[in-house]
Amino acid sequence: MRFVQFIETSQNEYLWVLETQNMGYAFVWNAHRLENVYWGAKLPYPADYLPRELPFDPLGNWNFARNTHEEFPAWGDYKFNEPCLKVRFGDGVRACLLDYRDATISENGAVTRLTIHLQDEHYPLRVRLIYDIYADYDLIVRRAEIENVGGEAVEIEQILSAAWHLPQRDAYQLTSLSGKWGGEFQLQRVELPRGKQIIERRRGSTGFDSNPFFALADGLAQEDDGEVWFGALAFSGNYKIVIERDAFEHINVSGGIHDFDFRWRLDAGETFVTPNFVAGYTAAGYGAASRALHAYELEHVVPRATARQPRPIVYNSWYVTEFDVSLENQEKAAELAAKMGVELFVMDDGWFGQRNTDRAGLGDWYVNRDKFPSGLAPLINRVNELGMEFGIWVEPEMVNPDSDLYRAHPDWVYHFPNRPLSTGRNQYVLNVARPDVQQFILDFMHDLLGNNNIKFIKWDMNRHFSEPGWMDAPEGRDRELWVRHTRGVYAIFRQLREAYPNVLFESCSGGGGRIDLGIMQYAEQFWMSDNTDPYDDLFIQEGFTLAHAPLTRMMWVTDTNWLNGRSYSLEFRFHLAMMGVLGMGADITRWSQADLDKAAELIALYKDIRETMQFGAFYRLRSPRESALSAFEFIHPSGREAVVTVFLSQSQFGYFSTNVRLAGLEPNTRYQVDGWDEPWSGQALMQRGLPIALKGAFISKLIRLARV
Ligand code: DGJ
Repeated sequence: MRFVQFIETSQNEYLWVLETQNMGYAFVWNAHRLENVYWGAKLPYPADYLPRELPFDPLGNWNFARNTHEEFPAWGDYKFNEPCLKVRFGDGVRACLLDYRDATISENGAVTRLTIHLQDEHYPLRVRLIYDIYADYDLIVRRAEIENVGGEAVEIEQILSAAWHLPQRDAYQLTSLSGKWGGEFQLQRVELPRGKQIIERRRGSTGFDSNPFFALADGLAQEDDGEVWFGALAFSGNYKIVIERDAFEHINVSGGIHDFDFRWRLDAGETFVTPNFVAGYTAAGYGAASRALHAYELEHVVPRATARQPRPIVYNSWYVTEFDVSLENQEKAAELAAKMGVELFVMDDGWFGQRNTDRAGLGDWYVNRDKFPSGLAPLINRVNELGMEFGIWVEPEMVNPDSDLYRAHPDWVYHFPNRPLSTGRNQYVLNVARPDVQQFILDFMHDLLGNNNIKFIKWDMNRHFSEPGWMDAPEGRDRELWVRHTRGVYAIFRQLREAYPNVLFESCSGGGGRIDLGIMQYAEQFWMSDNTDPYDDLFIQEGFTLAHAPLTRMMWVTDTNWLNGRSYSLEFRFHLAMMGVLGMGADITRWSQADLDKAAELIALYKDIRETMQFGAFYRLRSPRESALSAFEFIHPSGREAVVTVFLSQSQFGYFSTNVRLAGLEPNTRYQVDGWDEPWSGQALMQRGLPIALKGAFISKLIRLARV
């Protein structure tokens, strides 16, 4: 079968070799364990993948149990890996020993699937390890399924999606993404120390502080060169990625649902399926790792129905009106936005219940009649008349204590009796693990989407979980909430998408607090950050694009930034926001005619290059972390056009001049650069670079190149 080779190396010992364009991945069943033997550059012969033992073990008898290289270590014998599986059987036994049963291989379009069937040696528990091979992107997507085929419940205490093992190298650089509200996706790169590094989340959703992504690079890997092993987990609830370098220089990465405060009762006949964990290898640096993930996201993760649709340009008045939305101010902004070329007008928070501040109204999803006396129809009709689609903000998983919903259903929020209940942004978290709460959300969303011409939902989520009590949960299931909440949200999205296939969704969580490959299956785009300062966003987008495609990045052009108080030229703001899906959130009612005209020109330009910016291959040419001049490049999927954006934060001693070397062009093809008399070859543009000279502070340039 394509991409998987199976070799019986001796009796009861087997080798599987999984190969993609450039990557090889191999593991063996060695009569005891399923052990990884290789992950890295593709090797010429199957025998190359077999391990060669050292002639002697340097530690001899003192070789105390060390971590194994197991593909899916279950806890229960003399080894001390981070377990992928830890269970308690009905009789109290807490050790699980998995035996190999069978392997199956199947193909589905571009994907080859290898399934390894394991079974506990004694107890009726089956485990299936699934490997989906995406040969074109050098990626493998793994998950596990645990099936209770006995008559008694089994308690799962820990369940991860996969363990990955890296070859021994002298030193690894670990790249992770950590951040905060208003400062998401900050790239952090350190030499991997001994011990465990944990990228985790224990507050209910993906979060700002970390993102379920890792990259481990050998020594001095760069943006465009060097070996990088990388991965991302597709889950929007509590997760954990453990990166371990042990004393024997064995590097492994395991990840999945967090075991913190987690238990799962697996009843007779039930199966638990873990989230997907995608990982890959490249010898061509961080940029290639990102492009592999981007391509996979575009082709296989973002919602299929709309995957190839260009994303509309949004206007949203949140920073201008906050909760003070009204028919008048929305119409006024809509009229100006339409003239500028905006395609989707979104009304943010404040349109419902008694939502005049963030202290009340959340949960009461009826139109506020003081603000919209005749409901939403007049505004939506006006927006449609102006030639735009209409979108709206919701925060379905939350409730203010001061709301009719909370007064009617105080039991619907996570809480512990006899303990105070904390608020975050004056709100509680609804228990979306409960089927009745899911139904409530579905009902009001059907009401909203079924009765109004709404084509876009901004789904927000503005606090972390605390006091996560589910007192009337079915017996033994209260700590399943961490998974059931996220699955509940996914199920609601799924049903809404089925019912309203033309509605686009944006995932927002106080900015970029819920961005991952799990929610990406249901939401076309992410609100990047409440910090719309373009200079700060240069850094946020750099970290974001390490793992996520520009097509999923929504950023607005706003006025003077409220966080830093800085002002920027229109070009600088637009050029930054154009590197993905363009939006606007400025008080355009106060703009001069000259600015409105200029913005209209920039929007027209964006429409012209939109396919390249949204669907093109993305290159980080120069990092804002390294100098005052950063640069990025987008190449149209057909190769016919490239767009380069350059940002100078500050010049010193006159001009900042340099040659920005391009990437990804066809070497012998000629490209016409905007404003040049003669084209240059791709090779010249990549070797010599685009000559750039800029001076001043916060200056930008957008340069188009067309294939001749
Ligand atoms: C947080 C979001 O990030 C903002 O864009 C805005 O929608 C507010 N919530 C509304 O409360």
